[in-house]
Amino acid sequence: MEFSVKSGSPEKQRISCVAVGIYESRKLSSSAQILDDASSGYISNLIRRGECEGKLGQTLLLHNVPNTLCDRVLLIGCGREKNFDHNAFHKTSNILASFLDERGATEVFSCLTELHVKNCDTAWKINHAVQATETALYNFDQLKSKKENSRRPLRRVVFSLPSRRELPEGEQAVRNGMAIASGMTLAKDLANMPGNICTPNYLAEQARALEKTYKNLHLDILEEADMEKLGMGALLSVARGSRQPAKLICMEYKAGDESQKPIVLVGKGVTFDSGGISLKPGAAMDEMKFDMCGASSVFGAMSAISELQLPINVIGIVPATENLPDGLATKPGDIVTSMSGTTIEILNTDAEGRLILCDALTYAKKYDPEVVIDIATLTGACVVALGSHPAGLLGNHSPLINDLLSAGKTSGDRCWELPLWDDYQEQLDSNFADIANIGGKEAGTITAACFLSRFTKKYRWAHLDIAGVAWKSGKEKGATGRPVPLLMQYIFDRMANMGIHQ
Ligand code: BES
Ligand code: MN
Ligand code: ZN
Repeated sequence: MEFSVKSGSPEKQRISCVAVGIYESRKLSSSAQILDDASSGYISNLIRRGECEGKLGQTLLLHNVPNTLCDRVLLIGCGREKNFDHNAFHKTSNILASFLDERGATEVFSCLTELHVKNCDTAWKINHAVQATETALYNFDQLKSKKENSRRPLRRVVFSLPSRRELPEGEQAVRNGMAIASGMTLAKDLANMPGNICTPNYLAEQARALEKTYKNLHLDILEEADMEKLGMGALLSVARGSRQPAKLICMEYKAGDESQKPIVLVGKGVTFDSGGISLKPGAAMDEMKFDMCGASSVFGAMSAISELQLPINVIGIVPATENLPDGLATKPGDIVTSMSGTTIEILNTDAEGRLILCDALTYAKKYDPEVVIDIATLTGACVVALGSHPAGLLGNHSPLINDLLSAGKTSGDRCWELPLWDDYQEQLDSNFADIANIGGKEAGTITAACFLSRFTKKYRWAHLDIAGVAWKSGKEKGATGRPVPLLMQYIFDRMANMGIHQ
């Protein structure tokens, strides 16, 4: 998709469609008013007759509106003006794209970016309109033998700006939005790819492709023999039941000052989680191909950062493996030694995410990180606690937690803190090893984070449990690309705090 910004009057646009907002009830936005004045009340006339109430998400497509140079005018319902917030803006941008894509308009001049959204500037609106457009038009058809493409798809979106002064800022917002959107698309593509194709080796190849594309991105892939040497007994214990060799993929993006400590992102990359010997029930087990969504979000963020050539240092670490049952697989009761030396009694082989993460988190220390953020589809309990709106957030450094909470609000890709109190730690006590890998029935998301906290004492660390937000089930089954927008917003905010300019 081609995106651009322009300032100009809506009735003067020679384009296949101009889109303007209508508020509930029947209130014209300023661009709609301009079109209405130019056409001597053509739009207000229709609205008075009840053709469009302005309810959020409503659409009305008009052809040949008098005294306009465009082929069509699309009216989009925006709901009540005082309620027009982040969500409403996202929804209208999303509907604009999917509606036009199916109706032969190949280009649109969108005036939605001129609508007032509480606490949001023009750059935010453009950035998010780009993301919403790409989200609306995403589909995963790589593995369908017949593609159902729109005959005349939407190809070009021009965002209206109130003044020429805002053009440079608008253009930067388009670039940021496009980079985040393509990071999300990469994250979705990797996650939607089935487990027989998307193996640990496949992820390693995708990382190689990124390394080829971007000059500031370098790759270090550790094989099982390397992990053996480093003593990564926890990570390797998960891979024992699989015929696919595990990989530890390290993507090193260095475009910042050498003295600048890196942000390290660690993403859980279980390319299929059967539960292992502690086998999962059969219902919806296919969805466990999404158990690498932490990893795919790290890929998405690394590609967006590289695409924008941000002048910072970021490391992406992805422990990648399958979790399968086999004669050699780890059994409940087995005890393994992690890279840190801590011994772990594996009471449930389905709590495998924390086992691969703990070694990756120990390994992260070698990069002397400013902060470490891990992202993982770690616990079903997180879905029970928070549903599918926010990711779960826990960590050992409250400023970092606050930065992530705030980035979540700004980006609309929210997270919510759960307590990581010492009181929960004793649930991990083991009779036979230093710790057990499960903490019993209660507070499953917190005890999983407690487990990780044993390996992250030497740096500032936060953990995002994305089990509820990384993919959708049911009719719309598929990856969401979250939390790429959250991670990118965190990085932009941090750059701004440090006085680093893009
Ligand atoms: N990948 C799962 C977590 C998961 C389950 C995410 C369902 C989304 C939907 C993870 O590896 C797992 O199996 N966790 C167990 C932990 C338990 C054994 C302590 C869980 O949540 O049941
Ligand atoms: Mn599991
Ligand atoms: Zn898992």
